Amino acid sequence: MTSAEINKDTLPKHVAIIMDGNGRWAKKQSKIRIFGHKVGVKAVRDTVEGAAQIGLSYLTLYAFSSENWKRPKKEIDALMELLVNTIIDETKTLMENNIRLQAIGNLEDLPKKCLQNLNNTIEKTSKNSQMTLVLALSYSSKKEVAQAVKDIVKKVQNGKLNSNDINEETIQNHLFTQNIPDPELLIRTSGEQRISNFLLWQIAYSELYFTNILWPDFRRDNLFEAIVNYQKRERRFGKTSEQIEKENV
Ligand code: IPE
Ligand code: IPE
Ligand code: MG
Repeated sequence: MTSAEINKDTLPKHVAIIMDGNGRWAKKQSKIRIFGHKVGVKAVRDTVEGAAQIGLSYLTLYAFSSENWKRPKKEIDALMELLVNTIIDETKTLMENNIRLQAIGNLEDLPKKCLQNLNNTIEKTSKNSQMTLVLALSYSSKKEVAQAVKDIVKKVQNGKLNSNDINEETIQNHLFTQNIPDPELLIRTSGEQRISNFLLWQIAYSELYFTNILWPDFRRDNLFEAIVNYQKRERRFGKTSEQIEKENV
């Protein structure tokens, strides 16, 4: 699959990816799980470059969930170190490719060094305009919605918001993703077919794409394949197929 097969007119603005399967990939090579995470960085680099190359506006990568804090300390420490090193190493590439970095999640839970480097790169790349790369770190969609509810209730209590005015947009405007359009396409690697607490509100109408490829083997061609598959689908948003066909003439 090459980028030439992608229809530029119906390109999704935002693709989100659940990068799964690093541990299984390592196990297949009789290596420790951390080795899989390390090789997974190559997949991140190629996918990010490929996404920018075809002109996506947003790419969100699920890198670490709130639930992942339950993993063995050794694995968490290695993942956090890898995160710091990757952010430092890739800042140059982000600048060269005009990519802006953002992050969603309970970032205050990250080790200080991680958060500092993350914020440095977010700041440094903030004026870049080719694409926004969003890293989901210490992210839980349920926590995100709970926090939004808390913030909204506070505004109602302070008289800043009338409870009768609360609607879908109010919720949307209190999520981490308030300035990010919902993803049209969600990809999960490794054959698992679940959402694992990722962007529950935002994927209400996303197209889902599951592939058996383990994350360390994922490359831009696999992203292109997913997009071509997405472009063959009819997105009806509750309407009938006949209505959609009429709208498209
Ligand atoms: C995804 O790979 C990376 C993270 C969740 C941090 P896994 O580490 O979940 O790999 P598997 O699912 O055990 O193969
Ligand atoms: C989801 O992968 C989180 C990330 C990819 C960062 P997991 O491997 O943690 O998901 P579950 O626990 O198997 O659903
Ligand atoms: Mg996994």
